[in-house]
Amino acid sequence: MGYAQIYKGWQDDPEGFWLSAAGGIDWVTKPTRALDASRAPLYEWFTDATVNTCWNAVDRHVVAGRGKQPAIIHDSPVTGTKHVITYAELQNRVARLAGALRAKGIQKGDRVIIYMPMVPEALEAMLACARLGAIHSVVFGGFAANELAVRIDDCTPKAIIAASCGIEPSRTVHYKPLLDAAIDLATHKPDFCVIFQREQEVARLTPGRDVAWHEFQYGVTPADCVPVEGNHPAYILYTSGTTGAPKGVVRPTAGHLVALNWTMRAIYNVGAGDVFWAASDVGWVVGHSYICYAPLIAGCTTVVYEGKPVGTPDAAAFWRVIAEHKVKSFFTAPTALRAIKREDPDGKLVPKLPTLQALYLAGERADPDTIHWAGKHLNVPVIDHWWQTETGYAIAANPLGIEHLPVKIGSPSVAMPGYTVQILDEGGHPVSPGTLGAIAIKLPLPPGTLPTLWNAEERFLKSYLNHFPGYYETGDAGYVDADGYLYIMARTDDVINVAGHRLSTGAMEEVLASHKDVAECAVIGVADDLKGQSPLGFLCLNKGSNRPHDEVVKECVKLMRDQIGPVADFKRAVVVDRLPKTRSGKILRGTMVKIADSQPWRMPATIDDPAILDEITTALRSLGLAKA
Ligand code: COA
Ligand code: AMP
Repeated sequence: MGYAQIYKGWQDDPEGFWLSAAGGIDWVTKPTRALDASRAPLYEWFTDATVNTCWNAVDRHVVAGRGKQPAIIHDSPVTGTKHVITYAELQNRVARLAGALRAKGIQKGDRVIIYMPMVPEALEAMLACARLGAIHSVVFGGFAANELAVRIDDCTPKAIIAASCGIEPSRTVHYKPLLDAAIDLATHKPDFCVIFQREQEVARLTPGRDVAWHEFQYGVTPADCVPVEGNHPAYILYTSGTTGAPKGVVRPTAGHLVALNWTMRAIYNVGAGDVFWAASDVGWVVGHSYICYAPLIAGCTTVVYEGKPVGTPDAAAFWRVIAEHKVKSFFTAPTALRAIKREDPDGKLVPKLPTLQALYLAGERADPDTIHWAGKHLNVPVIDHWWQTETGYAIAANPLGIEHLPVKIGSPSVAMPGYTVQILDEGGHPVSPGTLGAIAIKLPLPPGTLPTLWNAEERFLKSYLNHFPGYYETGDAGYVDADGYLYIMARTDDVINVAGHRLSTGAMEEVLASHKDVAECAVIGVADDLKGQSPLGFLCLNKGSNRPHDEVVKECVKLMRDQIGPVADFKRAVVVDRLPKTRSGKILRGTMVKIADSQPWRMPATIDDPAILDEITTALRSLGLAKA
């Protein structure tokens, strides 16, 4: 069956489609129905089933005779180590870790924060939580203590599992002092912390609170898998929204299992025994879905890569990993390829990669140059697909495992079964093909997508459901062509995308506003050849502040690094007298972006004082932007 038939099959009988997909999962109690609409417009899936994620990702493969197959390959150029863990070993390690957590009081429903770099132990910690029905929340290592503290206070974990350190090419990331600072800052205190001591840096444990990863597992009884209800939260993953407070996206257990398992064959065209590699980080949704859960649920071997696309040691690093570990499907962000292309424009470092079947790109718009470069040198289909932390898997893709549809460069192709994507005008009416509008998805969203935000149902409704009744608002703008191909053009909110990382300009503005000399500020994302977008701050100083501007800028850059973290990549700001605003006081960020990017722009009719834009243009030119 081709894509069109499968999509139509889902449209005609969504219940039948998802119950059939549920056949790929081992249930404790099988679902008798798929959709639960009893609280519409809040929908849930497989609520009458019981199941365990860890069983499906680990134990069932051992039972099926795959115990000796590698489950995880850790390839770490930054530490010079490689390490293989088979499914049987993974089962033992996870059951023991879960047993140790249980012995210290962790039970179904308890939250556990995981703050770790790209080591297999991060996946083991996630799976150990899943084994017990505990709800994990992984925090990306590039966030500062303050961001970790915000997450601690929001999900109130009973335990935090952290590593002693992470390794960035230029420095060691000291996780333990960051963790200690976060716990000091947070109002909520965890009962205990588990510290995985790495050889590269051994951290000092806090007596009475911290336990060491190996020691606390000594002599424990390994834990069995605890069945949970289909709508039990598997995890919470915080993502950026319009304000500084991150949104806790809740992932429901059963829908997550069913949907991810379906995507592995339909989109990525892999199955048990194949090697799958997503070069992302466990701290992001791509890492949750396609480094940890989906490949393991499907019985693949997953590669955990602790390194960069370039500099560890060179621009051939990705190709070495693919060749050495016989990767069949490879997933990365366009920014990583741009970094490689910049160092190896003619693809001289790309060898023949006989096992590679396709390259998948997501996280930001895939620019045509990058797609052409990759297609030419890798000689495999390059598949752009579009998704969000909220959905957990692709909304639109070219489903290689079903049918390789004609590629249209610049489009992540077509909606996947489960998703009815529509382009709406401001009034919520569907627009005709080719017309730009807000991208919305008809409710209900499919299994595995977010049913709500952690402890914030009102915010969930306000952020996603209220604006266009009957739809989920994606926050992206774009259009559909006459063949149903989607084009994702921009965000409609204050989110920017820096090197495939989703960041909130609102959160950055809150940080700048806390500087004692800053009276008012704005942050925009300007176009960046490598990272897609790069944040830029505008600062208006308090009357009477006669501090040198470069000093204030330097302090603001440091403040951002300390408050949000290096991942914000905030390195540029300018001091201006005033910000351009509408007569009602709204800052005209969109116009500033166009000027900065040297794009054509029109004087907004509602602008309060047009002369301010001259001053902004001059300031931008001083940074080499806003070219005439
Ligand atoms: N822990 C701590 N710090 C981290 C980190 C982590 N896990 N990841 C990144 N950082 C730091 C970097 O060291 C850098 O710090 P610096 O300012 O001291 O140099 C800062 O955060 C910005 O990092 P990044 O934006 O990643 O820039 P980079 O110059 O280090 O690397 C790329 C550029 C393009 C190679 C890199 O961004 C990349 O590989 N991106 C792919 C992203 C991705 O896979 N996203 C997932 C979505 S699918
Ligand atoms: P995240 O939640 O971090 O995965 O970021 C999701 C956002 O990244 C989306 O809402 C888009 O703005 C952007 N994005 C992700 N994938 C794509 C893609 N293939 N093309 C264009 N934008 C994308």
